[in-house]
Amino acid sequence: MANSDLNAAKKAKKDEFYTQLSDIQEELRHYKEHFRGKTVLCNCDDPRVSNFFHYFAYQFEALGLKRLITTCYKNQTPDLFSQNDSERAIWLEYTGDKNGNRIPDPEEIGIRQFEGDGDFRSQECIELLEQADIVVTNPPFSLFREYVAQLVKYDKKFLIIGHQNAITYKEIFPLIMENKMWLGYGFKGGAAHFISKYEDKATAGDHKEGMIRVSGVVWFTNLDHQKHHEELILYRNYTPEDYPRYINYDAIEVSKTCDIPADYYGLMGVPLTFLDKYNPEQFEIIGQSLDLADMAVIRKRLGKSGGGPRFYIEQDGQLRRLFERIVIRRRPRQSCES
Ligand SMILES: C[S@@+](CC[C@H](N)C(=O)[O-])C[C@H]1O[C@@H](n2cnc3c(N)ncnc32)[C@H](O)[C@@H]1O
Repeated sequence: MANSDLNAAKKAKKDEFYTQLSDIQEELRHYKEHFRGKTVLCNCDDPRVSNFFHYFAYQFEALGLKRLITTCYKNQTPDLFSQNDSERAIWLEYTGDKNGNRIPDPEEIGIRQFEGDGDFRSQECIELLEQADIVVTNPPFSLFREYVAQLVKYDKKFLIIGHQNAITYKEIFPLIMENKMWLGYGFKGGAAHFISKYEDKATAGDHKEGMIRVSGVVWFTNLDHQKHHEELILYRNYTPEDYPRYINYDAIEVSKTCDIPADYYGLMGVPLTFLDKYNPEQFEIIGQSLDLADMAVIRKRLGKSGGGPRFYIEQDGQLRRLFERIVIRRRPRQSCES
């Protein structure tokens, strides 16, 4: 799905795409130490087809889980692709292997019916959320803001899939800035294939049968992981020619994360993809162009605003509007001498 399709999908609430087991396994292998003795909730799911439930049920003993809960949303106006055609919404509970065959058998899985539709905002679902330590799922992208706000309100640990565009949302960016949420390891090449019956717009080489390719998907989390502390190796030197200053904000433009200069400690604008390499011990996030760009300067120069708040540089005598930027600053290096 290209960006424009994703926006259209959000408007049309096209939320029926399902995560592959291989993608869940690939991400979850980095967080094993967080799960011992914990209750995991996979909401916004369909436990009968969900690979999240499958993963945690089969890894229950290996991870040392205490309890696994998964809830299924009963769409009141099911679309053509919805997997859930049952009358009532349900939730499942698994507390581990009882008969010693190390397989989650149907008789070991408790199935309960909700009174309501299993909406993550319903009181029944909130009660289950309150019992959980860690929430792991791919929630509806169309309700991402509300979904994250609820996790924060109930002070939950989480590992969830979302789109990188969500980084700039006014409800999400402050969490990233305050280091209350960061990116996980992510999908190879920043794109993933999800099981879905929606039309796939991927090129022939990228197409997989029965799936849609979604670019720009990321894992968001507040579980600590090693990559979040890895230092980005910087090898470029700052020169005013290579790093132009913005016209409407006092910082330099760094158009690629790998080009962050090693010898510059002032404010720099970097693309959103920087967050994939963000280590809060190495960099400080100051804000985003959406909030910081001085558009009055641009209006004065152009006689019009030219769209939403963004940084501009001057190139070949013309003003160039840039993509969304995150403003960062290097943290001073700790000296070994004390
Ligand atoms: C992107 S899909 C992911 C499904 C599943 N978690 C997975 O990754 O395989 C999001 C799911 O959220 C469900 N959903 C949509 N609105 C919901 C709501 N208000 N409450 C709970 N679930 C919802 C959709 O029906 C859909 O199955």
